[in-house]
Amino acid sequence: MTGLFITLEGIDGAGKSTHVDYLAHRFAAAGRTVVRTREPGGTAVGERIRELVLDHAMDVLAETLLIFSARAQHLHEVVRPALAAGSVVLCDRFTDATFAYQCGGRGVPEPSVEALAALTHGDLAPDLTLLFDTDASIARARVVARSAADRFEREDLAFFERVRARYLAQARREPGRFCVLDGGRSIAEVQASIERVIARHVG
Ligand code: TMP
Repeated sequence: MTGLFITLEGIDGAGKSTHVDYLAHRFAAAGRTVVRTREPGGTAVGERIRELVLDHAMDVLAETLLIFSARAQHLHEVVRPALAAGSVVLCDRFTDATFAYQCGGRGVPEPSVEALAALTHGDLAPDLTLLFDTDASIARARVVARSAADRFEREDLAFFERVRARYLAQARREPGRFCVLDGGRSIAEVQASIERVIARHVG
């Protein structure tokens, strides 16, 4: 059985986390081995880097390089072995997030991130990317209401709007890989859409 690499993306507060559980149960019920993971993170080294990136103010290039460091370790330790073993890898964020947050949000030039992506995982891309899309002001209001918002979640509305726009641009560029889901709909409606997408991509 071939492995399947599915990534979940979206601005903070777009509701993606709610649907990871559903996807995991759905594939497990179909007899697949499921590996749930996240970026930045997913390994001991990656989780240490996550703490740094989410909690400490830093230069944007340092931020970008740390995220790719975590990604390199994650690919080596978790993602590639799981895919080689035929598992379904459900990854909460991947390189599309770097294009959205670091390029769209913070203004890092795209060619720099393209070069880092080529270096880190040139031959590997997600099979399917579910992009949870929600109005930026609604999403931001949700995360601001949470008790401990991190460095990204505390950004202003204009930042959220730039990140969202960059995600949507990426989805338009790669319509075969991306599926845009309206995170503003009910959980049941989003799950029904996810089922249709999975049936189309995976069978
Ligand atoms: P999470 O809250 O969805 O786990 O994501 C953690 C934060 O990390 C989120 O606010 C976005 C940010 N992030 C980036 O800025 N660039 C990246 O490449 C990734 C993977 C996450």
